[in-house]
Amino acid sequence: MELRQDKTVYPYLSNNEWKKSSGGNTVQIKSPDDGRVVGEVPAMTQEEVDQAVKSTADVQANWEATEGHERSELLHRWADELEKMTDEIGEMIQAEVGKTLSSSKGEVKRTAQLIRHTAEEGLRTHGSFIQGDAFPGASKSTKAMVQKVPHGVVLAISPFNYPVNLAASKIAPALITGNTVVFKPATQGAISGLLMVKALVNAGLPSGVLNVVTGRGSVIGDFVVTHPNIDMITFTGGTSTGKHIAKQASMIPVVLELGGKDPAIVLEDADLDKSAKEIVSGALSYSGQRCTAIKRVMVNNNVADELVAKIKENVEKLTVGKSTEDANITPMIDQKSADFVVSLIEDAKKKGATVVSEGIQDGNLLGATILDHVTEDMDVAWQEQFGPVLPIMRVENELEAIDLERRNEYGLQASIFTKNLENAFTIADRLNVGTVQVNGKTSRGPDHFPFLGVKNSGQGVQGIGRSIDSMLRDKVLVLNL
Ligand code: NAP
Ligand code: G3P
Repeated sequence: MELRQDKTVYPYLSNNEWKKSSGGNTVQIKSPDDGRVVGEVPAMTQEEVDQAVKSTADVQANWEATEGHERSELLHRWADELEKMTDEIGEMIQAEVGKTLSSSKGEVKRTAQLIRHTAEEGLRTHGSFIQGDAFPGASKSTKAMVQKVPHGVVLAISPFNYPVNLAASKIAPALITGNTVVFKPATQGAISGLLMVKALVNAGLPSGVLNVVTGRGSVIGDFVVTHPNIDMITFTGGTSTGKHIAKQASMIPVVLELGGKDPAIVLEDADLDKSAKEIVSGALSYSGQRCTAIKRVMVNNNVADELVAKIKENVEKLTVGKSTEDANITPMIDQKSADFVVSLIEDAKKKGATVVSEGIQDGNLLGATILDHVTEDMDVAWQEQFGPVLPIMRVENELEAIDLERRNEYGLQASIFTKNLENAFTIADRLNVGTVQVNGKTSRGPDHFPFLGVKNSGQGVQGIGRSIDSMLRDKVLVLNL
């Protein structure tokens, strides 16, 4: 069947003008569902990227001088305009990244809520006032006024799996605090990002306050990351990419939200029905393509058989198919990612894992695969699969689980399932992660909670309030009266 190709070129935004690249080159974006071209974005030249950054720097002082309530009002209008475009943007998210329409529209609605919360939270940033005589030798007449001021130009780089939400979660805090923004969307998801920006323009974005740079990160990334007019970088994506950016960025603040290998630790006294439901949802939503997905289970030997059976029962209810068919498990973002997941499955099988349930393998469409008796010598025990495969590791006790977790390169989140909260707290204290969920799946939301990773899962903290903090720095005025 001839696939309907749409080779519409969606222009990038430069000083509130929608432009195509003078170089005439574009990047085609293909649907994970069926490989059809869903649109194209400009592959911007280095000169165009340079101009985009310089223009945001030129207007940053004016934007900083804009009254806070006006910045807040712009964000509220942005949220309203975004909601008006829920269907259009939701359909594009689905087309670009293979997320079901309901989840895609849900992402747009969640983003509008995030922007409104940011618009309010951003009005309540405060500095401090410090008396000098609190320190020996300093007099009462020496006083410090500590202001919170914006960094300047923020480079916001977002990943494919939440092309709107994880972009706005950087852009909104940057704008409310008086920073201007250079937005680099993930290529897969870039059209959705451009539509999100269209809503911002419709809301009254002043020219140059936000510019978009499109093109492959591997081509324009280093240039924009090292641009002298970039004053702060906020990045969400893979660990290797994030580490590379951090090395390139040298002297400017960088917030990184990276990969994860979140465990679900199931103790002997856990509610196994609830644990199984949370694990399957946490591991397989959006085909496991979430940084906070549950990426391995560590279950007490005494209840492992029962838990595995319940997980299997839940997995077998899941439908597999295209995002347009509203399937539970949809095609992975690309063939390379799918091939990586298959390689992890094959490695585990070769090394003796038990296949509890094996999903279909049809190009980049992989059904859910559950592997039991996974051991430490298997790659899937340690590497981030970012796909629909769930390794189950059996442990004697929680000490073994804690040890396994602490030896892992990642430290994003962990889930603990137990009826004994004291036990949960004891284990949580020993895990080296950003967040511990008790009796719930690992998850970033709600969006005003702090969200962070340690070790190879990131640096700095997101979550609305903490993202706002990350966009500001201290400026101290000392009064010698
Ligand atoms: P990715 O390949 O690292 O790409 C992330 C973003 O970085 C994209 O916009 C990409 O642009 C850009 N990029 C690539 N190389 C760059 C460079 N040299 N300089 C500047 N930017 C560059 O990640 P992804 O495939 O989108 O997402 C999957 C990974 O991200 C997984 O590891 C997942 O765990 C992680 N992730 C983490 C979180 C979190 O909140 N912790 C959330 C989502 C995803 P192009 O698209 O043009 O390559
Ligand atoms: O991978 C994206 C990460 O932010 C997960 O978000 O809300 O699905 O836990 P969420």
